[in-house]
Amino acid sequence: MTDAELLAAADAIAARAYVPYSRFHVGCAVLARDGRVIEGVNVENGAYPLGVCAERTAFSRAIVEGYVPGDFVTAAITASPCGGCRQWLAEMRVERVVFRNGGRIVTMTVDELLPEQFEL
Ligand code: THU
Repeated sequence: MTDAELLAAADAIAARAYVPYSRFHVGCAVLARDGRVIEGVNVENGAYPLGVCAERTAFSRAIVEGYVPGDFVTAAITASPCGGCRQWLAEMRVERVVFRNGGRIVTMTVDELLPEQFEL
């Protein structure tokens, strides 16, 4: 699966985002080492801070399905990942992150997205 195909999967799943408050759809598609793609969308809540980003729903779903940090090759996201999601991407030890940002497609490592990471 190419980066372009993975980003296309993120674009497609973004339609399912539950975003009655922001109307800002985000999709995330994660390619696992076994070749499977796990998708997520942002899920908002009337108590605004309780909403969940697309990256977090994708990785939460992957963990439930039995994947562990280090099982992930690439995460494709339809928007630039927020600071908190960069920490999630670091925790999940994703190799590469591909995302749209202002009309550009950007590819970065987690170390580039979040240098000098917090680790327990
Ligand atoms: N959002 C994500 O899903 N991922 C990010 O990395 C950035 C922000 C969502 C949260 C909220 O539902 C909407 O985008 C607007 O902030």
